[in-house]
This record gives sequence, C-alpha cells and structure tokens, in this order.
Amino acid sequence: MLRYLLYIGLIIASCNALPKQERRFPDDFLFGTATASYQIEGGWDADGKGENIWDRMTHTKPHVIKDNSNGDIAADSYNNYKRDVEMMRELGLDAYRFSLSWSRILPSGFSNHINEAGVAFYDNYINEMIKYNITPMVTLYHWDLPQKLQDLGGFLNPLFPEWFEDYARVVFEKFGDRVKHWITFNEPREICYEGYGWTTKAPILNVTDIGTYYCAKNLVIGHASAYKAYVNDFKATQNGECGITISVNWFGPLTDSAEDEYAAELRRQAEWGIYANPIFSEDGGFPKEISEVVAKKSLEQGYKKSRMPEFTDEEKKYVQGSSDFFGVNHYTATYISADEYKTEYITPSLLADIDVGSYRPPEWLSSASAWLKLSPNSIYNSLTHLHNKFKNRKFYITENGWSTLPESDLIDEDRITYYRSALNSVLDAIEAGVDVKGYMAWSLMDNFEWMEGYTERFGLYHVNFDDPERTRTPRKSAFVYKEILRTRVIDPNYEPDTLTMWIDEGH
Ligand code: NOJ
Repeated sequence: MLRYLLYIGLIIASCNALPKQERRFPDDFLFGTATASYQIEGGWDADGKGENIWDRMTHTKPHVIKDNSNGDIAADSYNNYKRDVEMMRELGLDAYRFSLSWSRILPSGFSNHINEAGVAFYDNYINEMIKYNITPMVTLYHWDLPQKLQDLGGFLNPLFPEWFEDYARVVFEKFGDRVKHWITFNEPREICYEGYGWTTKAPILNVTDIGTYYCAKNLVIGHASAYKAYVNDFKATQNGECGITISVNWFGPLTDSAEDEYAAELRRQAEWGIYANPIFSEDGGFPKEISEVVAKKSLEQGYKKSRMPEFTDEEKKYVQGSSDFFGVNHYTATYISADEYKTEYITPSLLADIDVGSYRPPEWLSSASAWLKLSPNSIYNSLTHLHNKFKNRKFYITENGWSTLPESDLIDEDRITYYRSALNSVLDAIEAGVDVKGYMAWSLMDNFEWMEGYTERFGLYHVNFDDPERTRTPRKSAFVYKEILRTRVIDPNYEPDTLTMWIDEGH
C-alpha cells in the first residue's frame, strides 16, 4: 500500500514538474507602452503653445507639487522624440500610446487658430513611429486643458462638448490618415473627481458636492460628440476606431455578505460606473444605485434637487454605444466593506455619498506610490466583470505599471514581478473569453507624476532629470518586457544576459 501511495505521489509530483502548456499572447495582440503629453514633452511655451491648467497651477502654486517641480521641461520629448522612437524600437513595441496637448495645437483651446508648429511636432513624432512600423494610439485629452477654457468653467460649462468636438475634428483631420486608434479621454475619474470634486489634480477646484457629477455628464457628452464626429465624417475614409479610457481598479466585497456586495457595487459606480454606464450599458445614463443614494442625500441636505444631474432620454440615446472599444487603465485593488474600515469624509462629497469602508491587505507588495499595491488577479476580476456587465466588449489595457523611488537602481525586481503577475492575469481573462486586444505598459520612461512630481518613477527606462540631455537608460524590466513581446510568452525564469540594449532586425 505504502509503495502504491508513493508511486501515485511520484506521478503527481512529476506531472507538476512538467511545463504547463505554454500560454501565448496572440500574434496580433498589440503590445506597447503609454505616456502623456504634459508628463513627458516639456516645451511648455515652445513655438506658440498656449498655457494649460497644469502650467498655470504649477507656476502659481508650486507648493501643491510634492517636490515643487513642474512639467516645463519634463523628459523633454519635444526635443528628444527621435530617441523616444528609438526606445520603442529597442523594446520591439507593436504600438505606442501617447497624448496630444490641446493647447499646443489650439493655443486658446478654440479652433480658429491652429498652431502649425505644434501640429508639425506631432507629425514628426507620428511619422517616425510609422517609419518603423509602430502603431500610434492617440489620446486626445490626458488632463492638460487649455487655461482659457478653464477660465470659462472647463468641464462644468455646458458648452464643453462643443469645444471638445471642434478640437477633435482638427486632430482627426490632421493626423487621421496615419492614426487608426483614437482615445477621447484618459481617466474621467481623475479629471472629474480629483480635479473638480477634490484637490489632487488640476484645476484643484474642490467643488465637493456637485463638481464630480456635472463634470461627468459633460465629459461623456463631449466624448460622444467627438465619437460621432469621427464615425460620421472620418471613419469611412480613415478606417480607424475611437473609444475612451477609464480607470478601472478592482473593488471587491470584503466578505460575501449582501451588504458588502452592495457597498462594493456603489464604490465601483462612484469610481468608473458613472462614466462607463452612460456609454456602455443598455439602460444608459448614470447607474441606478448611486443615483438613488445621491438623490436621497441631496434632499436630506436641503438641496432642491439631486446633486447628480440626470440624462434626458435624448441625451441617453446620444451617448449610448458611442465607443468602439473600452480602454482600461488598471493598477490595483481594494476590498470594500459596508460597515468596517470607514473614514470621515467631507460632506457633501462623492465619498460621503457612498459612505463605504475600504481595506487593503498589508502583505500585498507595495510600490513607491501609497495607492499602488500588487493585488493578485485584479486584472482578471476587472475584465471579466466588465465583460459580463457590458456584454462582450472589445478591450485594450491602455495602462498598467509600477512605481519605484528615484534613488532605487536599475535592477527593478518588484516591477518585473508586477508585470509578470499582471500579464498572467491578462492571459487568464483572455482564456475566460474576454476580447482583449492589447496591453500598454505605463510607462515607456520616467516622467512627471502629477502631484508627486519626480518623486515616483514608472519608467521601463530611467530618465536622468539632472542632465540637460534627459538621458534615458533601460531598467532590467525593459529587457524582460522586450523578451515577453518577442516570444509572446511569460517565462518566469527569464534573466537578461546583458543590460545593454540593442535593436532587433526589422525594427
Ligand atoms: C494613470 C494616469 O493616466 C497617468 O497619467 C499616471 O501617471 C499613472 N496613472 C500613474 O499614476
């Protein structure tokens, strides 16, 4: 009997030792990296560029940035764009996601004056990518609103959708012959909640009661206007696609109680549902549960009507279905509880409205950013949830990445652990039937990390911000990412044998 058991044990052990069937990313899966204009470009007033809300805020209130820095020069991609494309070739990227600076193209925000020098910069950047077969994926808005539009109320002005559509038409016209993947907005939550409803992004408006909700409505209508402009007037000749990128971190219930599940759903709606539901759901408009909660609290607080606006039936129809894909920026996860781990919030505000508690296990690996921990399976959880909720959409992971401290060296093992875990989670989602078409690592290189300035680094390439040349040097993770792209397989044991970069033939 003992021999028999030993024998069975041996068989099991040797099965486990056999390599699992190799899990591959499809050949047409788009692997890339992502960046954003204000975070990398510099040239803040170069060649006719107009002032934007980050220029204004960092110049007039430098203390709001952790190291008192700004994006005036940043990684100086305005002058280093050829080196940027060389790095893309070194990594063997299929695609590169970057954003356009609205005020570099339209200095006042309006389309009556186009800054040709700004257009030429993006023409050169795009042409250099195309020359080496790298697919550009372009975000129209990554948080740098022209200051003049902010002076008119920015996203809170009901005219905002028209301004955005006019700008979108200019860029489709100028670059749509070469750009086939458009993203209207990057992370509505960070624009609306952090910028209008709170103080952690420009324009730090701090209108806690209504800022987030009115911004959200104008933003999704603006998105739909740009999408429709593309579909009606450009798509037939340009053959591209247009979507939106929403930050979808995972919020799961702390326990399996109905109360915790409801609390988690409220938090998901506050985080991304108020932007995704109007566009991707069958019922349209803001999600039901959060709308009810805000309406009830508003009346109790003495407001004459809900602090969350409604969509008319016409507006609902206008916005519904206005996206060819769902871009997901994903970084981490949090457990949500109906009663435990609660904090005091400013009232009224979005977080006070939903009033739920949040918890993150202390054993999760921590990055240099307080909010960012390695949360197992969270990409899989987010994507399968969205796939079921919004019925078989097409997805791109448009951002995912890990931060380290400026003083840490180029051997970034934690970043490698994070990327391998995240990419395995993407494969799990693909195997579960989710249509994921691509993955963009954040970021190609170190850059201006908003309120954290240069104190947190997300790059596969290190950037030396003390050097006027802004020299870029690959971290170890760059070599690991390169190998995953080349083989389409995640080898947990791969070790680069050199830390000197090269360009493979064909790139
Ligand atoms: C998402 C934002 O889109 C990007 O600008 C930011 O740098 C990363 N998250 C990291 O915080």
